[in-house]
Amino acid sequence: MPKPVLFSGIQPTGNLHIGNYLGAVKQMIDFQNTGEYTMYYFIADLHSLTGNMTPEERGSQVFITAAELLAAGIDPKKTTMFVQSHVREHTELAWIFETLTPIAELERMTQFKDKSIRQAKNINAGLFTYPILQAADILLYHGTVVPVGEDQVQHVELTRDIARWFNKKYGEYFAEVKHVLTNVPRVKSLLDPNKKMSKSLGAGHVIELADEPDVIQKKLSKAVTATEGGGKAPGVDNLLLLLKQFGTEEQYQEFVAAEKKGTIQYGALKSVLAESIADTFAEFREKRASFVKNTKKLNAILEENAEHARLVAAHTMKDVRKRVGLV
Ligand code: ADP
Ligand code: TRP
Repeated sequence: MPKPVLFSGIQPTGNLHIGNYLGAVKQMIDFQNTGEYTMYYFIADLHSLTGNMTPEERGSQVFITAAELLAAGIDPKKTTMFVQSHVREHTELAWIFETLTPIAELERMTQFKDKSIRQAKNINAGLFTYPILQAADILLYHGTVVPVGEDQVQHVELTRDIARWFNKKYGEYFAEVKHVLTNVPRVKSLLDPNKKMSKSLGAGHVIELADEPDVIQKKLSKAVTATEGGGKAPGVDNLLLLLKQFGTEEQYQEFVAAEKKGTIQYGALKSVLAESIADTFAEFREKRASFVKNTKKLNAILEENAEHARLVAAHTMKDVRKRVGLV
């Protein structure tokens, strides 16, 4: 039996933070290390064109995202890790899928509605057809298992529909696609713990994997713990959740017990947590710096992986072109 194809991607819109790590990257590494899947992980630079980054930011961020994914544990020998725009077939397949997708289906997409509010001055057509490109990403490699956060489930459902519409019109070809929800609770912002940790909130709200120990200490020291009017504080819950992920079981239990008894010292919690996060990513920081310095090696890895991706993509496009009558 061939292994199921697991496919996911990340936009190169900023340095990885612990929310991205726990919500997405760590799972990909865990999936990779089971050895049970044919793995693809890609950097969605074409998708990022729908946003507001400058070309300079995009170029350097693609590179940094690649360095960070490798430093975090994505192994390019086990996972085909590549940059979307290095494989031309993504846009070619997306065009064919555009001709199968009713506009009304795209109008239902909540991410399009959200982003149209967030970037009201830049509601471009790409933002609207974005989920079709995403379907092409997945189906080009015959992905069937797609780990994503909640916000992306609708896009994976649309991918399944597009595969069905294709099969109905051009004959059975694409298999059923399923999303896998990452089971990590949302990591919250340090300064505004009612919101999810997101780089769009600003640097003080997030801990980046690349943050130096003193920066982590400083950011955590400013993290919100108390709530106005008392009651269960979401900021404290968030710090405990992080301690569960990054600290020892003993440390976690100790602070949970203190919180219940009302004897918890937030300063101590923050300092233990800062140390555990800094330790968890000590090796990451070294590897990241070494990849960022060694651009030759990083480019060679990306090129080698893109080459493999291109072979698979070309094969799929050959089949698709034949089926749709492009000769
Ligand atoms: P950001 O909100 O910082 O721009 P992205 O939207 O680029 O992050 O998210 C990339 C991946 O990380 C997605 O799969 C998303 O589900 C996951 N993710 C982002 N923020 C969090 C968070 N605070 N908690 C858990 N997962 C998150
Ligand atoms: N849309 C995803 C995001 O913003 C990124 C993405 C693009 C993706 N294509 C994909 C994720 C295909 C999974 C599969 O997070």
